Amino acid sequence: MNKLETQTEDLHKSILLAESIEFIEPSGKKNIVDATLGLGGHTEAILSVSEKINVFGIDQDIEAIEFAKKRLDKFGSRIKILQANFSEIKQVLKEAGIEEVNGIIADLGVSSLQFDSPERGFSFRFDAPLDMRMDKNSETETAAELLAGLSEEEIANLIYEYGEERFSRRIARRIVERRKMGNPIETTFELAELVKSSVKRSRKDKIHPATKTFQALRIAVNSELEILETFLRDSVDLLNADGRLVVITFHSLEDRIVKRTMQNLSGRCFCPPKFPKCVCGAVKKIEILTRKPIIPSEQEQRENPRSRSAKLRACRKI
Ligand SMILES: C[S@@+](CC[C@H](N)C(=O)[O-])C[C@H]1O[C@@H](n2cnc3c(N)ncnc32)[C@H](O)[C@@H]1O
Ligand SMILES: [Zn+2]
Repeated sequence: MNKLETQTEDLHKSILLAESIEFIEPSGKKNIVDATLGLGGHTEAILSVSEKINVFGIDQDIEAIEFAKKRLDKFGSRIKILQANFSEIKQVLKEAGIEEVNGIIADLGVSSLQFDSPERGFSFRFDAPLDMRMDKNSETETAAELLAGLSEEEIANLIYEYGEERFSRRIARRIVERRKMGNPIETTFELAELVKSSVKRSRKDKIHPATKTFQALRIAVNSELEILETFLRDSVDLLNADGRLVVITFHSLEDRIVKRTMQNLSGRCFCPPKFPKCVCGAVKKIEILTRKPIIPSEQEQRENPRSRSAKLRACRKI
């Protein structure tokens, strides 16, 4: 199977697809923004519901943009696509002249196109330079550059916080030891090997020993958690009354931010009890539509193991 065929196989694997459509509610004349276009799976499904739907899709990854453009070409002027970071969603929509927004969807994390492309450095399954930038043309540091520049303590904290890795100190020590010997970590295999020899995992552990460290680095390289809350708040500001925001996350750190931000936007105050007045900005702007997060059905989890950690939360602007 060639690369394109493999990708086309994956096209059928957009996560929580039916559920996303249900919450976005593409009925009537609507403008929807797909903030993480990726391979265009969610957008294709949304555009296929009704001729009256238009989608504005953004992604920071130029390869994803190129792929999605081809796939979605059949929808003509109903789809517009732009390379951008969703942290700039307000600016981007303003410049595109889009004023009416009835729905925003964000399916966070990496796409299979990124994860399965050996040269992007996201996966320990392939030997490649340790890059992990979703926007490979950006000026931001690669994962290897990050490991070369941070102190041992900073590396340990990063792996602990973003990877919830309990062997973070030992891994950081080894990374810095190698660096001092003039042999810094430069590739995915070097890092995977180092982590494997630094951690003790019980046989019950199903995940690869380096999974958590790779996740942590990816989050740090792309500032994934830093930009999330602002993106959610901006999205709610952009929505028309009754507009929907649908967010799919893939790990507990992201889900916690989405859960708390949506709660705060629905009026819940998170100030310490002693505070004389609320300073956390708790004003009711939305109604939460998912009291508990929606998770993939057993069938979807069986058919697509990558969906197993997915959680969907949705809200409606009031
Ligand atoms: C899980 S994939 C989306 C898959 C898509 N929903 C589909 O069905 O094909 C996530 C995409 O979001 C993009 N992405 C992640 N963070 C981003 C950000 N801050 N700004 C723009 N795009 C981002 C990634 O480049 C990736 O292509
Ligand atoms: Zn408060």
